[in-house]
Amino acid sequence: MTKKISIIGAGAVGAALAQRVLETGMADVVLVDILKNVAKGKALDLLDAAPIIGHERDILGTDNYEEIKSSEIVVITAGLPRRPGMTRDDLIAKNAAIIRDVAGKVKKNAPSSIVIVVTNPLDTMTYLAYKALGFPKQRVMGMAGALDSSRFIYLIADELKVARSSVETYILGSHSDTMVPLISKTRVNGKPVTDLIKKDRLDAIVKRTCGRGAEIVSLLGSGSAFFSPSAAVFKMLNAIIKDTKETIAASAYIEGEYGLEDLCIGVPCKIGKNGVEKIIELGLSEEEKAALAKSAQAVKGLNNLL
Ligand code: NAI
Ligand code: 2OP
Repeated sequence: MTKKISIIGAGAVGAALAQRVLETGMADVVLVDILKNVAKGKALDLLDAAPIIGHERDILGTDNYEEIKSSEIVVITAGLPRRPGMTRDDLIAKNAAIIRDVAGKVKKNAPSSIVIVVTNPLDTMTYLAYKALGFPKQRVMGMAGALDSSRFIYLIADELKVARSSVETYILGSHSDTMVPLISKTRVNGKPVTDLIKKDRLDAIVKRTCGRGAEIVSLLGSGSAFFSPSAAVFKMLNAIIKDTKETIAASAYIEGEYGLEDLCIGVPCKIGKNGVEKIIELGLSEEEKAALAKSAQAVKGLNNLL
């Protein structure tokens, strides 16, 4: 069956994701941007690479939302990153206006799609998209935990000089400095990470993980990370398209899970062809429970600015 994924926002994350989707043969892509020519130009550039890479997938660059009709999945990357001089409130106001606009058009043109939100502030924009779309909660999720967990895994593996595939962990909570790496669930070749890395080093790795996005922003000078964010979205797309039902941390709408209510926040989700098929409730340490509650409070504070 022809698979069609629409990506709203042809910027750094959207274009990198389009490349991954096309060049792995996952699906055809519609790349939508308010800047029509940018979307068109990037689509042509990606098509010119197809004979070299050897794939037969198609991409259309456009500003016309009618083209997203019959997309199985829509990924929203449209929005601004925070710029110097811009307050968090400014960013929320600007990106909320973009998400409201985009969600209205997705609702009209791709009403059966599963939506993955990438735009920051992630948990608040996912909540807004969920409310504006009016889709069942299973069909709206935000990407952050997959990225934050991958960053944590990379740093742990690098510290111990072990294979990255030997590390398992989850990061819950908000995509911000209140994120909650689950130390109690972090294992390396099956052993608790706390048996392998001293507390002060582990604390430093946690801190670096929480600040990794900002570390990359300050090195790039303008713009933010896009290779790893696009890889994290790709992992979620793969779980949906191949119905893997694997557990991936994602921002999902919460109704009572983890003692929380009426917000989107990072939790372990079983992801398959229906979207978020189940929220997995892990047993947390008292410290982790308190940290998740604090993170949820911070997200609610931002949601109140909508
Ligand atoms: P970018 O600035 O490179 O691209 C954003 C694109 O959105 C631009 O091409 C812009 O023209 C487009 N756009 C703006 N308003 C639009 C509208 N109303 N309709 C359609 N397109 C519109 O930004 P980048 O680096 O791709 O990041 C995008 C967003 O994703 C930002 O909010 C960023 O903070 C966030 N982000 C989130 C991550 C996460 O872990 N959840 C990771 C990386 C980025
Ligand atoms: C990141 O964590 C900016 O949210 C983006 O890299």
